[in-house]
Formats: sequence, C-alpha cells, structure tokens
Amino acid sequence: MSRDNQIIVGLDIGTSKIACIVAEIAADGRVDIVGIGKHVSKGLRRGVVVNIESTVESIRRAIEEAELMADVEIKKVYVGIAGSHIRGYNSHGVVATKNGEVTEEDVARVVEAAKAMNIPADQQILHVLPQGYIIDRQDGIREPVGMSGVRLETRVHVVTGAVSSAQNIIKCCNRCNLDVADMVLEQIASSESVLSQDEKDIGVLLVDIGGGTTDLAVFIDGAIRHTAVIPVGGDHMTNDLVAGLRTSAREADLLKKEYGSCMASLISPEETVEVPRVGGRPPQSMPRQVMAQLLEPRMQELFELVREELERSGYKELVAAGVVLTGGSSLLEGTQELADEVFELPVRLGNPQGIGGLVDVVNSPIYATGVGLIQYGHRYRSEQQYGGHKKKSDTSVFSRFRQWFGG
Ligand SMILES: Nc1ncnc2c1ncn2[C@@H]1O[C@H](COP(=O)(O)OP(=O)(O)OP(=O)(O)O)[C@@H](O)[C@H]1O
Ligand SMILES: [Mg+2]
Repeated sequence: MSRDNQIIVGLDIGTSKIACIVAEIAADGRVDIVGIGKHVSKGLRRGVVVNIESTVESIRRAIEEAELMADVEIKKVYVGIAGSHIRGYNSHGVVATKNGEVTEEDVARVVEAAKAMNIPADQQILHVLPQGYIIDRQDGIREPVGMSGVRLETRVHVVTGAVSSAQNIIKCCNRCNLDVADMVLEQIASSESVLSQDEKDIGVLLVDIGGGTTDLAVFIDGAIRHTAVIPVGGDHMTNDLVAGLRTSAREADLLKKEYGSCMASLISPEETVEVPRVGGRPPQSMPRQVMAQLLEPRMQELFELVREELERSGYKELVAAGVVLTGGSSLLEGTQELADEVFELPVRLGNPQGIGGLVDVVNSPIYATGVGLIQYGHRYRSEQQYGGHKKKSDTSVFSRFRQWFGG
C-alpha cells in the first residue's frame, strides 16, 4: 500500500470502549487524524482482557469502521496496556565509559544496568524510561552522548506488567490480523496527547479516569517519575446508580452522562430527573441532587486514593503545574470542582492536543489514550528513523515480544 509509511494507528482497548484512531503523518511531521472507529468493549474487566472472543469481535468492528472512514487497510497498531497488574519502579545504574567520552553504546549499557533488578517471574518489562544522567557526579544531564567523563549513571523508571495480560492483548490483535508495533502503558500514551512539555518540566500529575480503572503518571523535570493504577473508574459510579436508583446498568450510564454530577452542593434542589425502572414499572421522578449524592462519595473516594498515592510517591510538593484530569469519567459534571477541593492544586481537564485533520471527532478526553498512542508511535518512529540513541536504550519491542513468548 502506497500510504503505508505515513499511516500510524492507535488502538485503545479500554474497559468501556475500543477506539481505533488512524493518523496520516504529513511531510513536515504534522499528525493529521483521518479516521476513527469505536465500539463498546465487553471482554475486559478493570483494564484487563478476560474474554478473548468478545474483545476480538469489538476490535474487529472498531478497525472496520476506522478503515472505512480513513480509506486504508490497517495492518499494524500501537496498542495500550493497563490494569492492576502494572507495577512502576525507580531504579539506578552505573557504568564506566569506555573512552572517557559517553557514546550511544555506554548509554545503552547504563540503561541495561539500571534494568537489572528482581522482577517476579510472571512480570515482564514494558518500559524503561530514563529520567536523566549523571556524569562524574554532575547531575541533571538529559543528552549525555558526546560529553566527557568516566563514570556514567542513570536513573530510570521501569514499568512492568503481567506476561499473560500482555500476551492476551497480542493474541487479540493477531486474531484480527493486526501486528502490534508496540505496547504502551495507557497513561504514558495519554500523557503524550494531553500534557504540554511545560507541564512535564514544571511537574504535573496526570489522572486518566476511565471506565474500569484510574491511571496515574507523575512527571517532574520533563521525565516520568511515578506510575500507578487505581482499580476504580466510571463503571463503579454507574453501579452506584444502579443500586441506588434500581434501574438497569444501561439506563444508569445514560442518566449519569446526561444528568449526573459529583458536586451535589452545586445542584438546585428543585431540579428533577425521570428515572426509568426495571420490570415494566413506570418511570420515577427524582431530584437531581439525590443522584449527585449517590455519585459524589465514589468520586471523592477516588480522588482521596489518588491523593494518597501522590503523597506516598513523595512527589506531592513537586507537582507545581498541578493535576490534569482526562479519560471519559473526567466529563462527569462537577469533577474539576471536586478535584480542586481534594487536591488543593491547580486542576484542568485534558483533551488531546497537537493534532490536525479531524480534530473535532477526537476532541474528547475519551480519546486521550488513542491519540496519544499515535503520538508515541510517531516519536518512536522518528527516533528510529533519525538514529537517535533513545530507542537503543529502550528494549526493542521485538525482543520483548520474543521474551514474552519464550522464543
Ligand atoms: N459525559 C460523561 N459524563 C460522565 N461520565 C462519562 C461521560 N462520558 C463517558 N463517561 C464515562 O466514562 C467511562 C469511560 O471512559 P473511557 O472511555 O476513558 O474508559 P475506557 O478507556 O474504556 O476504560 P479504562 O481506561 O478504564 O479501561 C464510562 O464509565 C462512562 O460512563
Ligand atoms: Mg482508558
């Protein structure tokens, strides 16, 4: 296919939806969105594939729709990975340079040394993200190649995930005749699309509130310092409505999106909502404030868990640019106001940025991961193309895949 080289596809296999986003890379490097396909996701629980058949079916539908819209045949995708099995560690490596000057090979060796840590047998490395280099005790070096020195150190953030979860994602893609170009931690993908470089430099916490999980990433001085997954998301809020309003999950989700709020104090007691009920009973009118009182404690609890995680990470005082909320559940009315109260930091909502083409179609926090996968893929391809040293230090996806399959 003639357009093959300039097409990058992001496949976000979420707990609520599967989104396939197609972008064309212009000659000047601009990322233009040219197609999107979306389908409800039924085969995942809390970010992890638990039913291959239904996941494959949903991926197929999303891919077909995206292919039709973009008028391309999709063969290769950048895919996201998430779930409670994900672990993030900070590690440290030291080597002696070979010739008194740092080479790309020294950088690859020092990152390899930082990776040497005890990882449980059922976990596999997904990312090794250098945070900076130290040459002969001189700290804060971002581009070490070519500098003089004998002792090269690095600090890295290592992300690992369950081998079986990664294998299941690859299996689902392969069953849809798709090759996996790379597998990316979902909040790392989202951070590509919603965070600015300034925010990452100043210090920021990204909170991607999805359906099944809430994914966190902390950036300080331009590098990722901490990642975590909290197994609470919008589906729990929907379930709270199901229990409280005695309506179906489908109706509860619709009501939540249309009339829900997690700040009961901002809603007038006079406002009412018609709630459809199960078993053929007539709909019931109920104050909107009551619905908000059902949703608020869950969002409050979630933000408190996020705050505790941030405090535990030790970076609370360093996220001067504040908190960026994204993911579908960040659309719930009152989310930003509640986050303002809990975090006592600047809070904003993050939509995908830095793209052209069909911008309006993906202009929602729901597509932060899908668009971010493309931007991650674009960066990765550019680095490879221009022979940058960064990719060498990150284990190649192909060798990682071989490890996963024991080959
Ligand atoms: N306007 C809205 N108001 C409130 N909630 C919303 C709105 N739109 C979507 N949601 C909720 O967002 C959630 C889905 O978000 P998203 O698409 O980011 O999840 P996902 O990526 O599929 O899941 P995960 O990342 O957890 O695997 C659902 O719980 C849905 O009800
Ligand atoms: Mg998601």
